[in-house]
Amino acid sequence: MNITIIGTGYVGLVTGACLAETGNHVFCIDVAAHKIDLLNHGGVPIYELGLQEMIARNRAAGRIHFSTDLAAGAAHGDILFIAVGTPPDEDGSADLQYVLAAARNIGQHMQGFKVIVNKSTVPVGTAQRVQQTIAVELAARAVEHSFSVVSNPEFLKEGEAIGDFMQPDRIVLGCDNDQNGVRAAEIMRCLYAPFNRDHKRILQMDVRSAELTKYAANAMLATRISFINELANLAECMGADIEEVRRGIGPDPRIGNHFLSAGCGYGGSCFPKDVQALIRTASEYHQPLPLLSAVEAVNDAQKQVLVRKIVARLGEDLSAFRFAVWGLAFKPNTDDMREAPSRILIAALLARGATVVAYDPVAMDEARRVFMLDLQNAPAAHARLSLSEDPMQAVAGADALVVVTEWNEFKNPDFQRLRAQLKKPLIFDGRNVYEPAEMSELGIEYHAIGRVY
Ligand code: NAD
Ligand code: UGA
Repeated sequence: MNITIIGTGYVGLVTGACLAETGNHVFCIDVAAHKIDLLNHGGVPIYELGLQEMIARNRAAGRIHFSTDLAAGAAHGDILFIAVGTPPDEDGSADLQYVLAAARNIGQHMQGFKVIVNKSTVPVGTAQRVQQTIAVELAARAVEHSFSVVSNPEFLKEGEAIGDFMQPDRIVLGCDNDQNGVRAAEIMRCLYAPFNRDHKRILQMDVRSAELTKYAANAMLATRISFINELANLAECMGADIEEVRRGIGPDPRIGNHFLSAGCGYGGSCFPKDVQALIRTASEYHQPLPLLSAVEAVNDAQKQVLVRKIVARLGEDLSAFRFAVWGLAFKPNTDDMREAPSRILIAALLARGATVVAYDPVAMDEARRVFMLDLQNAPAAHARLSLSEDPMQAVAGADALVVVTEWNEFKNPDFQRLRAQLKKPLIFDGRNVYEPAEMSELGIEYHAIGRVY
């Protein structure tokens, strides 16, 4: 099939590459000329395992193309995916300006029957707005082309995006039940047939339910994380170990083991913004969601948990201390630092006068860009932050190590060397990477989340 993807970011690029991999002819469009230029020269603007190779393979086979030409994109695809960003607006609602701009572009250029697919995470009712926006543009051109808007939310996780896309738990298709909707549903089922393992993965439903499903999934996962974090803080006061408690509740299939790792808060481009957007949408329907407001508040507080522990141990004034920070990305296996807990931690340490040397296996370029913006009004603090290309060098002479992201390479360091490099044998661990008993044996003072030392 001929596919156009509008928005070549994390979701658009992975979707485009995986659809090309299954034999489709994919045209990826973006307004960011530098991204398209990089892709056309064999580069990939994001770090995602296996993506570069997949794109290279499909480029060589002539199945994937990159362009800024929206008109050519609208002409190419029988199916047009909208995969642009939906960042939070000032009031927390999803900013739909990019989605609606993409819809306008489609309406201005499309010819013949098209399936328009909303892959961006969008509030209930957005498919209808996309439909109306396209209809207005067609009317302005005085042409009649039939089309249908399908809601097909994406559930991939960064760092595992290709696996999640190629072997999805489920493929949600929200389709209208009119003639164009039925035709669109058939086309979408064909497109996704190679991913429909056991013929069981496609879940077809009405459009509004599909739109809400995406927010429900992210809100549920965020709720689990805030729940376990709240409990971790309690466990710590009571002398219990949250890792044992997790082991104790996970085998119940009604609870399960996933997404119950206590830590220094959830980050990333989606949980924070999607929880906020759902709260905001609900308020428009006069149906407040106090549970989700609490999830958000607990997470905001949890992003401060490492700072609280450091201050409790070393005092409010940290100007005499130097900290090594391991892990800057919001989670392992990505270079994404959107809403990363590391940003809150580092800003708080610097604000208290500390010196910080930070290291991340892949997010160093992104870190340079992000901290330039975060600290633009605090040049003196910025001067006390440096990035080290080597984790052991970052630790050399530091008063403490702070682990913020659980990259594999941090899991089993040479502890003797680590201990020797540190000025004080002191670790604050925001992801419960190490065992308290082992740290005790090594003579390392260890502060984790919800664990007894
Ligand atoms: P992103 O910021 O990485 O990429 C969005 C891209 O869209 C950018 O490259 C931008 O230049 C481009 N763009 C903006 N307006 C455009 C237009 N009018 N025409 C063409 N291109 C345009 O965003 P993302 O992380 O890929 O997220 C996209 C959507 O998918 C969001 O709604 C997000 O919530 C959702 N989502 C993201 C993930 C994830 O892991 N990142 C997972 C599931 C769902
Ligand atoms: C999340 C969802 O997992 C995806 O299904 C969804 O498609 C995506 O959001 C989205 O809508 O964009 P992602 O943000 O890539 O994916 O990463 P996650 O693995 O979900 O982690 C999110 C945050 O939660 C990270 O900061 C992670 O450290 C934290 N987390 C995760 C915990 O603190 N504890 C856990 O047990 C799991």
